[in-house]
Amino acid sequence: MSNVAALTAEMLAKYDRPGPRYTSYPTAIEFHEEFGPKRYIEKLEEAALRPGDPLSLYVHLPFCRERCTFCGCNVIVTQKPGVAAAYVDDLEREIEIVAKHLGKRRELVQYHWGGGTPTYLTLDEMKRVWNSLAKQFTFAPGAEIAIEVDPRVTTRRQAELLRELGFNRISMGVQDFDSDVQDAVNRYQSFPITKDLHLYMRELGFESINFDFIYGLPHQTPETFRKTIEQALELRPDRVAVYSYAFVPWIKAHQKAIRLEDLPPRDVKLQLFGVAYELFTGAGYQQIGMDHFAVKEDSLAVAAREHTLYRNFMGYTTHPAKDYIGVGVSSIGDIGGAFAQNTKKLNRYRDALDRGEPPIERGFERSKDDEIRRDVIQSLMCNFHLDIPAIERAYGIDFATYFADSLRELDEGLVGHGFVTRTPHAIEVTEPGRLFVRNACMAFDAYLKNQEGGEKPVFSRTV
Ligand SMILES: C[S@@+](CC[C@H](N)C(=O)[O-])C[C@H]1O[C@@H](n2cnc3c(N)ncnc32)[C@H](O)[C@@H]1O
Ligand code: SF4
Repeated sequence: MSNVAALTAEMLAKYDRPGPRYTSYPTAIEFHEEFGPKRYIEKLEEAALRPGDPLSLYVHLPFCRERCTFCGCNVIVTQKPGVAAAYVDDLEREIEIVAKHLGKRRELVQYHWGGGTPTYLTLDEMKRVWNSLAKQFTFAPGAEIAIEVDPRVTTRRQAELLRELGFNRISMGVQDFDSDVQDAVNRYQSFPITKDLHLYMRELGFESINFDFIYGLPHQTPETFRKTIEQALELRPDRVAVYSYAFVPWIKAHQKAIRLEDLPPRDVKLQLFGVAYELFTGAGYQQIGMDHFAVKEDSLAVAAREHTLYRNFMGYTTHPAKDYIGVGVSSIGDIGGAFAQNTKKLNRYRDALDRGEPPIERGFERSKDDEIRRDVIQSLMCNFHLDIPAIERAYGIDFATYFADSLRELDEGLVGHGFVTRTPHAIEVTEPGRLFVRNACMAFDAYLKNQEGGEKPVFSRTV
């Protein structure tokens, strides 16, 4: 990555193509409605039979007062009073249903509030969400209890409450401090308000603070982005995410408000990441997976060095749990080898709960082949490394035979360009190849061939 500039336009054009971000494998595109509430309940009840296994839980709090035009998240924009309060009631009902089917399986290793904007809620609503959960679940020692906060709407009193409740990890949306960029994406967030909340959170003693940035937004230049990152470095967050802007106007129609001609071209977008890479690694951060950095002593950085990093819908983690529950509209769970996704529509969500059913709308049960490929992709995405004998032992396969096509594809592309190296025992994504790790994973994706060539684009671009 250090020699971003050395990447030729030809290579960029070859590898910068639509591809999944692999927050799951198979990706959500494969989920279908044959997997519904009934099957989900069976999965929860099977999970109840493994009381000692680690469990994670995600709560989706979808509300935002206004929409940032770049946003790709599942958001409900409203300022109507009462909407969030009613949603909090619904969440309580959903948590009760889930807990009922989980029997004694009630200890969480990871708990996360994401959004939307969780701090859209009032203090009282936040307490109610917390208590709904705390009535049913307990936390394992050292559990990761995290929340996403938007510094523009998060008050000091909310920060204090989060600490009192037991949150230990904070993730703040920043994106970019430049005023032209902020104008173009309808998100006005000054450096001083971000700094103020950060310092207060530090004072309150949160264990870890993360900042989110996006590269590839309208009007960003290497110079403006450098300034943004330099400002962030004054605060030295423990972790940072530097996301590639996912421009998917065919899925998120509001992104059409972003003018194509304002977006940085491919080579500039790459330079933007190069700036972030250079500044963060130069300041002692370690790259984690494709788009995160962490200070060297952070648990994520330690896990990355030891090749024990995992990734789920909540992001990179050191707390792997095979079973993962999602509650709230649109949330995705992963339980007993199956993905299960809630409806995205508030009225359908409520209707299901009125019927006493979990609001699951679609899902996917993984086959053995899915599990093998998922492990391979997970390992590459997290560790830039694959231990081939470990996969062979775990699944009783001969890797070279099983993945002959994938290996050929790698050899003809990424290996030839020096972005991937391989031996009979390991596949390694090289330092300059990290930006193309999604492309390496795509060689192992059995579903991609069916998705390519369709009339509608599906994924954002890989770079
Ligand atoms: C739910 S938001 C974070 C909390 C809060 N809503 C905020 O914006 O501060 C999660 C993160 O997703 C990232 N994000 C949103 N839309 C994106 C897109 N289209 N492409 C890449 N990253 C995106 C942003 O970095 C954002 O901070
Ligand atoms: S980026 Fe955050 S604040 Fe902006 S619309 Fe998306 S979820 Fe809401």
